[in-house]
Amino acid sequence: MTTHRVPSREKIVEWLQETEPGRLEELWKEADRTRQEFVGDEVHVRGLLEISNYCDRSCHYCGLRVENDQPSRYRMTLEEIRTAAQQAIECRYGTLVMQSGEDPGLDIDQLCQIIKRIKEDTDLAVTLSLGERSDDELLALRQAGADRYLLRFETSNQQLLNRIHPLRPGQRPNIRFELLARLREFGYELGSGVMIGIPGQTINDLANDLLLFRELDLDMIGVGPFIPHPQTPLAHVASDASPVSRQVSADAVTTYKVLALSRLVCPLANIPSTTALATLGGSGARMLGLQRGANVIMPNLTPARYRQDYNIYPDKAGSRESQSESAELARQQISALGRIWGQGRGDSRNRLTRLRDTE
Ligand code: 5AD
Ligand code: SF4
Repeated sequence: MTTHRVPSREKIVEWLQETEPGRLEELWKEADRTRQEFVGDEVHVRGLLEISNYCDRSCHYCGLRVENDQPSRYRMTLEEIRTAAQQAIECRYGTLVMQSGEDPGLDIDQLCQIIKRIKEDTDLAVTLSLGERSDDELLALRQAGADRYLLRFETSNQQLLNRIHPLRPGQRPNIRFELLARLREFGYELGSGVMIGIPGQTINDLANDLLLFRELDLDMIGVGPFIPHPQTPLAHVASDASPVSRQVSADAVTTYKVLALSRLVCPLANIPSTTALATLGGSGARMLGLQRGANVIMPNLTPARYRQDYNIYPDKAGSRESQSESAELARQQISALGRIWGQGRGDSRNRLTRLRDTE
């Protein structure tokens, strides 16, 4: 076993600025080695179910923002969710991830009922990604059996965040960090992450984000490139890298760097090779993500008729596939990489280690 060294801030900044392919090869190798040593060769496969695309927020980057009247809005019925959970099992996924916009019309009591049923009837782990919800709701969902919660903080630069992510009236600026603390307190396995290449985001910001992943001791880390959506205020704002502005570029290589560095700062975390990365760089990019730090993929389980309407950003990878095609592609990719299809729920080793250490 090698002894793992967490990179310093200077080293992180240096890697983020590195452009020489031979040097970057060293970063990819180190991330892959660390991934293998700490979380092994299994790739955990999570079925992603986009249960509602209603959202009452106005995030400047996202196609689901309330001002966008282009997507037709849908909310899946209990029966549809139950059917999808069954499909997750047929596809041999260990986890069902239920994601939605910040939908005030989501019936949390009903959702609790369905989570209870899924947990009683199956061995699936349940992950939620429903945005900022009240403490009462988050606690009820946890008590109903939800295991994990994903809430990205998007960027640690508060000024930048305030510009692109308008707060609700009267809301405190650091609400996401308060919510992350609450989620941990309630016993959720905790996931967060950022977008890469937000217009106005600098290398320094990104280095801070990475250090924060470690400080928050995240169990799951989701990162992906910012992809401009035509029906949003950030549609035409360029994020081209320039040495003067130190703007982070929203490209695949920068995303691989952040994936690799996430693995180095949080070696035990579960880290997906995300849909945004595959959207930018094709299915080859998803595989490279798995070779540069990631150990999770999240094939889409959303019924075909809803997929096109969950367009956070345009031309989302997989939006034209069927559920079984997404599963088959996952299978082919894992086997082509010589990796192992993850067995069971794929709980975060980071959380298990933390719980063991605090016993
Ligand atoms: N490009 C990339 N990622 C986006 N997200 C939202 N809009 C975009 C976009 N235009 C990400 C955010 C959010 C998650 C649901 O999707 O990080 O947390
Ligand atoms: Fe809504 Fe989330 Fe999109 Fe913001 S990022 S508009 S909260 S779905």
